[in-house]
Order: sequence, then C-alpha cells, then structure tokens
Amino acid sequence: MIEWTDQQIQAFQTTLLAWYDQEKRDLPWRRDHAPYHVWVSEIMLQQTQVQTVIPYYNRFMAQFPTVADLATAPEAKLMKAWEGLGYYSRARNLQRAARQIVDEYGGEWPQTAAGLQKLAGIGPYTAGAIASIAFNEPVPAVDGNAFRVFARLLKIDDDIAKPQTRQVFEQVISRVISQERPGDFNQAIMDLGSSYMTAKNPDSDHSPVKAFNQAYLDGVELDYPVKTKKPRPVEVAYYGLAIQQGDRTLMVKRPSDGLLANFWTYPLIAKTDVVALSDAEPADVSDEAALALLPQWVKANYGLTVTVTPIGGRPVTHTFTHRKWIVTLLTATVAPDADLSFFPGKWFDSAEISTMAFPKVQDKLFKRFAKEKPMYRG
Ligand code: ADE
Repeated sequence: MIEWTDQQIQAFQTTLLAWYDQEKRDLPWRRDHAPYHVWVSEIMLQQTQVQTVIPYYNRFMAQFPTVADLATAPEAKLMKAWEGLGYYSRARNLQRAARQIVDEYGGEWPQTAAGLQKLAGIGPYTAGAIASIAFNEPVPAVDGNAFRVFARLLKIDDDIAKPQTRQVFEQVISRVISQERPGDFNQAIMDLGSSYMTAKNPDSDHSPVKAFNQAYLDGVELDYPVKTKKPRPVEVAYYGLAIQQGDRTLMVKRPSDGLLANFWTYPLIAKTDVVALSDAEPADVSDEAALALLPQWVKANYGLTVTVTPIGGRPVTHTFTHRKWIVTLLTATVAPDADLSFFPGKWFDSAEISTMAFPKVQDKLFKRFAKEKPMYRG
C-alpha cells in the first residue's frame, strides 16, 4: 500500500469533486438529501443495478411517500412493490426499521453512522452512506465500489473477502474523505467505480483521477482489489409440480424461517427426499427411477394421488447466496375433489395470483410452465 501526503489528499479531493460536480449521474434519489430517500435507495442498490432500481424507487416513493407510510404499509403491498428486486429480507427489514423510527425515535432519524446502525438492516456501509449523504458526517461508505477504487488508487493488498479488511479501508478513507462534502465524496467514489474504474473493463486512460491511480500507473490495475474466491453455491435438485385445474393452481406456503420464508411456490420436492424412498444407494438411483418414486413421496407426505409428466427442456435454475436450485418442472394432475388436509397449501385462482408477490425462482417456473403449456395461459 502507498500513502498519500496531505497535499496529495487535497489534490485528490479537489479533482474528484470537480469531476463529480460536472459529471454526476442524475438519479432520482439525488434530487434532495432526505434520509428516507437516501436510505431506501441505498437498500435497493445493495444487490441491484442502478438502472433496474430507478423504476422501483420511483414506484416505491409514489406508494410509500414517507417513513410513516412505510411503517404502516400492509405486508402484501410492500412485497408486491419489491417483487423482482429479490432478497426480500431487505424489504422486511426496511419496514422493521421504519417502525423503529416511528415508534422508538418519535419519527426522528438518528443522525450518525453509529446511531443508524441500531436500525434493522442497516450495516456499516448503509449507515456510512446515509450519515454522509443526509447528515454530512465525514464517515466512509465502503461498498464494492469503494473497495475496488481505493484498492487500485493506493495498491491496498489486503484480501477484501476477509471481514477484518473493511477496517483497513475505513481507516484509509477516513483520512482521505472530504470533511466539507463527505456525501458527495462517497457518491463520487461510487460513480467512479461504475464508470472509469469498473471491475473488468476499466478505462483509466480517460479517468479524471488517473494520476492518482497507482495500480494503473504500474500496469497492474486488474490485480486489484485482491479477493480470494468464495466457495461455489451448493447445488440442490428439486422437482417442481405445476398442478393446474382450469383457472386454479395448487401452491404451497414455505415455512416461516429459512430461504424464501412465507412465500408461496409450486410444490417443490427435494430430489434427495424422493431418492431416500429407494432401497438402493442414493448414487445408484437413476433419474428415471427417482421420477417413478415421486408419486409415492407425494402420497406419503401430502396424502395426494398424482400423476406426473415431465416438461421438456432444461431444468429451471436459480442461484441464491449459498445455494443453487435446479428445478425439474413437471405437470401433475390431482382429482378435482382431492383432500388437501395434509397438504401445506391451497388453490389460488389467476386473479389472486396476479396480486401476489412471488420469489424470482417461482416467476421463472410460472414462465416456463406458460411457455410449455400455452393452453393454460389465462
Ligand atoms: N450505489 C450504491 N449507492 C449509490 C448511490 N448513492 N449512487 C449511485 N450508485 C450507488
């Protein structure tokens, strides 16, 4: 790692902020510095690209214009507003924090990064972003952009996959950040990270801060940031059952904890559970044999008699943080008067389904089913 002198820090701030004043992106959450606006945008931007977030952000503010509106919003309406953004726990925490602000803080926001971190779903990055942008506190906001930009500028060799490394960056940025305009400084770093200093295709020849970019000057830009590889997500195979009768679809509700808690999906049955019904070693059970056991599993666990027919094509896949689901979609039929007393779900008609929010993987399953079975399209 290199160190800058006070003069270099001064020059860097001046150059960066002059560029930001000229070139900053016109984004809907930048029109004012209201903490509510900054907060909602930062939460949405955590796992999602700016271009995707913009329409969601605008609709969200139209539906929930104040923190009090968010605190009292019906959960189904909130989930519907979030549908497609994924990582729904972000939306649930957003509402929890809104209720904390209204109920515990009398509607007044904590104005420091330390105070903000007491709210649900607000970690060091989000706290730093809100404190600096909304309240002008000179604190760092270290997201992936800041890691990459500062790792390159100063050739910081610490592994950003390690939790302790955040502190190294926070210390460096605390020294370099503008005391007068910390919010603009942090946002300028974000804009730099998504324009001239991107992960794979940086354009440092044209970057306003190329003279400060030591990794670029030394020809080793793509070696930064240093990041060890995360383990690959574990693959889990499921059978997904599309069970439709006329306008009705049979859905199950997921348990209230764990992945996709409380969401409705097609019945999803882990292949390992089905294979366990066989006397053979799991590895010796062929795909055909496993599929043949599926109705037996459904009978034993749901008390339902089904016939199943595979839908062609590749399985539907969806990757979560630590899991990759591989869902083989099947159409299944049950008797019209099937007894659902052992089934953890119920029928929904298409009007109900159109008002509900579904996790992304279920949207993919709906789409695949509609493509393969166009006659069902409602
Ligand atoms: N990414 C995360 N926060 C951002 C912001 N405030 N502006 C632009 N991109 C961002």
